[in-house]
Amino acid sequence: MSNTPAPRTRQLNENTSALEGTSQASLDSVAQERRLAEEHIKARSPRMAAEPAGSVVAQVTAISKRFLGTLALNDVSLKLGAGEMFGLVGPNGAGKTTLLRILATLIPPDSGEVVICGYRLNEVKKIRSVIGFMPDVLGVYDDMLVREYLDFFARASALPAATRDYAVRETMQAVGIEHMAEQPVDGLSRGMKQRLCLGRSILHKPRLLLLDEPASGLDPLARLELREILRALQRQGTTIVISSHVLEDLADMCDRIGVVSRGSLICVDETKNLIEEQGTRRLRVKALGQSEELFQFLKDSPEIDGVRWDNDHILFRLGGNQEQDLHELLKVLIQKGFPVVSFYEEAPSLESAYMNVTRAGEGWEVAKS
Ligand SMILES: Nc1ncnc2c1ncn2[C@@H]1O[C@H](COP(=O)(O)OP(=O)(O)OP(=O)(O)O)[C@@H](O)[C@H]1O
Ligand SMILES: [Mg+2]
Repeated sequence: MSNTPAPRTRQLNENTSALEGTSQASLDSVAQERRLAEEHIKARSPRMAAEPAGSVVAQVTAISKRFLGTLALNDVSLKLGAGEMFGLVGPNGAGKTTLLRILATLIPPDSGEVVICGYRLNEVKKIRSVIGFMPDVLGVYDDMLVREYLDFFARASALPAATRDYAVRETMQAVGIEHMAEQPVDGLSRGMKQRLCLGRSILHKPRLLLLDEPASGLDPLARLELREILRALQRQGTTIVISSHVLEDLADMCDRIGVVSRGSLICVDETKNLIEEQGTRRLRVKALGQSEELFQFLKDSPEIDGVRWDNDHILFRLGGNQEQDLHELLKVLIQKGFPVVSFYEEAPSLESAYMNVTRAGEGWEVAKS
């Protein structure tokens, strides 16, 4: 966020000197307005927004939700710590949006309990004042300018008049749309609309930010910028829950990942652990010639599985996790005379960890080939 002094305060200071000679009552009211503006600006500062380290921002206990015949959530429990970025992943229809909508007080669970920043779900107004929600379907009012749109939501969130302009400007800057302030919303590209909706959800500096697939439809550069924006919000102490199918982004940003499958939270772990423990160790080899023979040799080796082509490389999985195993295999390939020019291990990814966890969770046998 910007470190520049609040324009509103500057304007009020100027007003104060310009008002010399006016009545004491109006000077008092200007001073009072300035005090209020300064208090609000201070309250909006990142430091003030941050929770004490280690505190719990949201606690979900055994919630379930059924839609007619579908059990969308089944006995889900989760604790979110202050300032963490938590990724929600899972197949289509797993229950991610349902969980986010319950946290956002948009739908009630059938059973279980949710406490957000100390408030229970029936304290809807209080919860909404401390959360921000960006839904997966963008809702924008087309006949407004960008600045008007944010101002509308600033008023709807009951931001005090003294800081509204400042909040709108600060938010446009945070999501990188300040140069579009006077553009009509319906002329914005999808990526810009995504930013606008993110801006709308952070206008009031929520302590818990809920994002449902915020990266969908974004180009790679816009995704990178979104990651930077979210990191900046996290640095300011915002707790973020983000559902996404872009696992690469989640692996890069999230402290922890929760895997949802068929309504159940089947795995919650630190991102690094999940990848190390559930990710698949995969090797990639390329030979200058005899590639078909090499492919067949690998396929026939009992300790190797998942052998497949990737352009002119051969990919496969090797049992065990010792570096020595790699060395032994490479030695054998050379001894057999395969003209190997490239041989390396790919780092396990969140994608392979996710596949393994969801397949196991859905009762599949983890694919061997
Ligand atoms: N309003 C609703 N009425 C009926 N069924 C619903 C409703 N909302 C969700 N469901 C069902 O609940 C299940 C979970 O849906 P949800 O939208 O939470 O999944 P999701 O994990 O967000 O999926 P996706 O990755 O496709 O967004 C699905 O079977 C869905 O059809
Ligand atoms: Mg969804």
